[in-house]
Amino acid sequence: MKKKLIAGNWKMNGSLAANDALVRALIAGMGQPACDVAVAVPAPYLAQVAGIAAGSALALAAQDVSVHEAGAYTGETSAAMLKEFGVRYVLVGHSERRQYHGESDTVVAVKAQRALALGITPIVCVGETLAEREAGQTEVVVKRQLAAVIHLNGHCISEIVVAYEPVWAIGTGRTASPEQAQQVHAVLRAQLAAASEHADRIRLLYGGSMNAANAAQLLAQADIDGGLVGGAALKAQDFLQIIAAAQ
Ligand code: PGA
Repeated sequence: MKKKLIAGNWKMNGSLAANDALVRALIAGMGQPACDVAVAVPAPYLAQVAGIAAGSALALAAQDVSVHEAGAYTGETSAAMLKEFGVRYVLVGHSERRQYHGESDTVVAVKAQRALALGITPIVCVGETLAEREAGQTEVVVKRQLAAVIHLNGHCISEIVVAYEPVWAIGTGRTASPEQAQQVHAVLRAQLAAASEHADRIRLLYGGSMNAANAAQLLAQADIDGGLVGGAALKAQDFLQIIAAAQ
């Protein structure tokens, strides 16, 4: 059976002092967990968190990666740079990147490709807006988003992680019900199965207001293999409870 993955997404939060306290509390609190655990930290803190987490079960993740390999791209961070800091996972296509930075499905697919080329696991985020859900477009949207990534990365698609994050559930306190989430996860699993004979080993995370109270029910669904956790990943006790719910 594949291990579940609980990934925290700190977004643009943190400070040297706060990160130090949070990461040390996580490492002390989780010991050797039965699931995989990662935190996606802002780029300037990768070195700090890599240092504190060295030798522990806490894996390092980045929140974004450039579509370019190197060169005159001011402000960008390449996959090779992430690799130097021991980054194991990178979020690609988070809805905040799609929304505020205009990232298209194609850009997201190239970012996944850059990560895979360096042996970094892309956590490919997909999800519909409230308007899209209400228009009955949920399946069409998530399948379109994932199809772009499959199209470009077909041969190594079994190496990715997918996170289903309904946009209306992110940071709103409004979680998808376990049934709603499972329904979409089943659609994504079927789409991956059509593209790869190893689709069953791809982990599908749920994200969107996952917290200590609702994690166990969500993680009990057949096709939910972990969580991508925003707000609740900033408090050690909350994140540790979610990790415990995944075991
Ligand atoms: P949230 O964020 O848990 O605060 O809703 C999840 C995410 O954006 O990854």
